[in-house]
This record gives sequence, C-alpha cells and structure tokens, in this order.
Amino acid sequence: MNSLSLSAFAKINWSLRVLGRRPDGYHDLETLFQTVSLHDDLVFQRAESTSLRCDDPTIPRDEANLAIRAVRLLQRHGAGEVAVSLHKRIPAGGGLGGGSSNAAAALRALNQMFDLDISLQELSEMALQLGSDVPFFLHGGKAYATGRGESLLSLPDGPAIPLLLLVPPEPVSTAEAFALLGATRTSPSVPLGKEHFLTLIQHDFLSHPQALTNDFEAPIFTRYPHFAELKRRLYDAGAVWASMSGSGSTIVGAFRHSMERDRALAALRDVSAIAANTIGAAASLSED
Ligand code: C5P
Repeated sequence: MNSLSLSAFAKINWSLRVLGRRPDGYHDLETLFQTVSLHDDLVFQRAESTSLRCDDPTIPRDEANLAIRAVRLLQRHGAGEVAVSLHKRIPAGGGLGGGSSNAAAALRALNQMFDLDISLQELSEMALQLGSDVPFFLHGGKAYATGRGESLLSLPDGPAIPLLLLVPPEPVSTAEAFALLGATRTSPSVPLGKEHFLTLIQHDFLSHPQALTNDFEAPIFTRYPHFAELKRRLYDAGAVWASMSGSGSTIVGAFRHSMERDRALAALRDVSAIAANTIGAAASLSED
C-alpha cells in the first residue's frame, strides 16, 4: 500500500474526575470519553524521508508533533519513511484531543501500510507512551476510562447527539490545568464508578446534567471567568447539558435536536462556534 487517508476525530469528555496523584507523577482519572464528528484529515504516503505538511502554520512539524512521534515509534517496529499531510480543523489547546487523535491515526495508518501486524493491545501500549488520551482514539465511540485514561471500557453508542463546541481564543495547556487544579483543591475526587455511567446511559443520558461534571471547570473558570459565561450562554440558548471538555478551553453544549443546536449557533454568532455530533466507534475508525 503506497498511501492511506484517514480522518482523525476529536473527542469531548462527558465527565472528568481527577483522582489522586500517582507515584509516576501522573494522576489517576475517571472519565467518559466521546468521539465527535469534528475531524482533521491525514494522508500518509510512502516517501524517501519522513516529513509533515500542515495547512495550519501554528502546528509544529517536527518531533514536537505527536503524529511525527507516532511515526518514529512505528519506524522502530519496522515502518518505513512517510510524508504526512495534515488538514487541521480541531483547535489546539482546546481539550478536544486533536494532537492525540492525529497520533492514533498515524499508529493505525503505518501499522496497516507497512503490514506490521501489531495487535491493538501493543498499539495501545505505544499510544500511552505518546500521551494519556491517545489509547482512547484507537477505540473511539463512547468509553469509560480509568488509570491515566488508558484502561478503557466501550459503552453503547446510542443515537447521535447534536453538539455545539465554543472555542475561546485562549488555549489552555494540560500542564497549566493540572497546576491550577493542584493549587486550588484540598482533596482528590472519588470515582463515581462505571455503574453510574451505565445507568445514566440506559436512562436518558441528557436528563441528568448534574451527574456529568468536570473537575477542571472550577479552577479554569476562576482563572478565565469568561469561559463560565460561555457555559451559561449555552444553557440560555437551549442546551440540555454544557461543560468544559477535558482540561479546556472548549465549552461544549448538547442539544435534544439539531434544529435547536442550529438556533443556538445563530444566537452565538459572536463566539467561535463549531457544530458537531457524537459519532460511534465504527464510524470513528472508518477509512476515507
Ligand atoms: O499524557 P499527557 O502528555 O497528555 O499529559 C500531559 C501532562 O498532564 C502530564 O505531564 C501531567 O502533568 C498531566 N497529566 C496527569 N495525569 C494524567 C494525564 C496528564 O497528571 N492522567
């Protein structure tokens, strides 16, 4: 196979709880990941030497880019050189996992292009070396995650949910979010348990917005009060649930119907807003 095109989808977190700090310096998490339709496009082509071309000049094109780090990792397992072309739509520093999703797409693409036959289990271990969110993108859909985010349990997809992603102009780095959280809270969260989320999914997921919360909201909203204002505006515009995604900065609203979401999009014209839908695991892993 000479070339392969893949979509790399973004994620949101329906819920995100930060538990205790671990001996390795990371934190244990409990989160409910969800793939959404917003995506970057990647094309991988066999080449003389490895390179990355991207239409967004702010994205690093060297080893600082997780997709290139993923390529280098697979080259140590037999993959050849590739030219990567990346069409970027997922905002960086938005808590939408764009870099992690690109990296997972690179792992999948090279495994296939060079017939490496690396199992999903091994690929997941490599993914975790690249970042805590990367293993999720090898599965996609809706998944309950613990550990650093790599211990994954896939949950039923359910019908597509219309979303509005509000992207503030200030990106937030994961490191900054953890630092703000550590400086402001007195005790770690306790996990809600997978049964909590299974029950929610079985009983009208969106009717219990208070059962789906993000620990990073309080410290990030204190530092960036206008993010809280965006959340309030999503509820005012008809969202049935709104929350920050990951460690920020994107604020996500979920709507019962796409017409309501589209009305909210029109009402929030002064904000950088992206309409999207939840997508299931199979769609998130399909090839172009
Ligand atoms: O794994 P990733 O590279 O995305 O993590 C970025 C930073 O976020 C880590 O260096 C760490 O400070 C923090 N982090 C953490 N616990 C996690 C995930 C990330 O403390 N489970």
